[in-house]
Amino acid sequence: RLRGKSVRKLLEERLPKKVVDILRKAGQVGSARGEEVYLVGGAVRDLLLRNHNLDIDLVIEGQGIPFARELAAQFPGCRIRGHEKFGTAVILFEDNFKIDVATARHEYYARPGALPTVETSSIKRDLFRRDFTMNTLAISLNTRTIGHLIDFFGGSRDIKERIIRVLHNLAFVEDPTRILRAVRFSSRFGFAIGKHTLNLMKAAIRMKLFDKVEGKRLLNELIHMLEEKNPLSPLTLMDGYGIPQALHPALNFTPKTMELVESTIGVLSWWKYLFMKDQIDSWSVYFLALTDNLSDGDFKSVVERFSIVGDLGRHMASERILVRQALALFARGIIEKPSEIYSVLRNLSLETLLFMMAKTMREETRMAISEYIINYRYVKPLLTGKDLIRMGYEPGPIFAPILRTLKQASLDREVLTRSEAEDLVRRIFPIKKKEADRDTISLDS
Ligand code: CTP
Repeated sequence: RLRGKSVRKLLEERLPKKVVDILRKAGQVGSARGEEVYLVGGAVRDLLLRNHNLDIDLVIEGQGIPFARELAAQFPGCRIRGHEKFGTAVILFEDNFKIDVATARHEYYARPGALPTVETSSIKRDLFRRDFTMNTLAISLNTRTIGHLIDFFGGSRDIKERIIRVLHNLAFVEDPTRILRAVRFSSRFGFAIGKHTLNLMKAAIRMKLFDKVEGKRLLNELIHMLEEKNPLSPLTLMDGYGIPQALHPALNFTPKTMELVESTIGVLSWWKYLFMKDQIDSWSVYFLALTDNLSDGDFKSVVERFSIVGDLGRHMASERILVRQALALFARGIIEKPSEIYSVLRNLSLETLLFMMAKTMREETRMAISEYIINYRYVKPLLTGKDLIRMGYEPGPIFAPILRTLKQASLDREVLTRSEAEDLVRRIFPIKKKEADRDTISLDS
């Protein structure tokens, strides 16, 4: 086993104390159970790079699920969710912090006539299955060896040299989504892709290996890319290698596409600044930008390729058409009043509205959409159904147009107070005396 230098100090200094305590406890539990426990993958890579990363992945040489159960028992309010089939578990702490636990099974190879023997250590085999050398590092957590860096494949050297390297020639054949990961890591860390790795990658792209990959997995990787801090950089790299066309022949990142992506970045940071708490799917705003130059037919086909099926796919396809219609209305300059802006935009999702802001060339349109997002979409009629009943209106189909009129009046600031609202309602929707009432009166008199 390759036990290199100790990174214990780094571990203790870079990770929050709470996490260090959990890792130490994990090592103690493992040692008591006679199992080896390792911190692996992205968290180790990012520790060496001094990047923040609290995605904690543990690999246990032994039995991951019973280990996770025992570790969780040490912390009040801690639960686990195990997947027996894969020998994996997620440990969920009270404060929502979580740890992933996987099992590296001891695999015994029985030779004819001999007792079973372990061929290689299981952690080594587990790490060998991973994509790039920089992701194959592990840190031992067991009591006596805590902090030992385990580096079978030259990962720490490659991190030092800032280079992305595969472990073997079949890395991209085994999993072509690693092509997208290489691009993403290369732009995120500013690492070069090794010469041999790059050749393998280009060959994999030429060989159309993406065609064998399920749409869901491609979409998942694309989303990761679009959720990077600055997606323009991986997208530009991607384009340089001809990846868009390899994903789908209709995809074509033109300079205009890239401009649209840039303006989307601007709009999304405006959004984030204003509405930090509201969650949106920012990837779908970028997705609309990347596919803006496609015909409706090609868009449908791309959406299908990425398995964006069902409601979301249909929704994206129809909103794309609504965007064009709405932008055309704005361009004709006939939409001015807030209530008009409201009625054009009210059925569009936030993602689509943000995309429209990025796409439009007209400052007035951008302002109108931003006003809608900031103000208009929250405007409520000054009166409620209850108020109308109190005013003597009978609940029925008339309520909808009354409330709509009130909302319009509020949007356009034609009424500012409840009493003004009541006056407006009485003026536009006078209460008619019921025919039936009149009949009774006339019979009686
Ligand atoms: N992995 C792989 N091939 C893939 C996806 C993942 O070999 N197609 C391996 C990588 O070695 C990675 C590990 O599985 O270290 C965990 O994957 P993930 O959590 O997606 O990767 P991270 O490296 O942590 O990436 P990120 O920082 O984006 O979370």
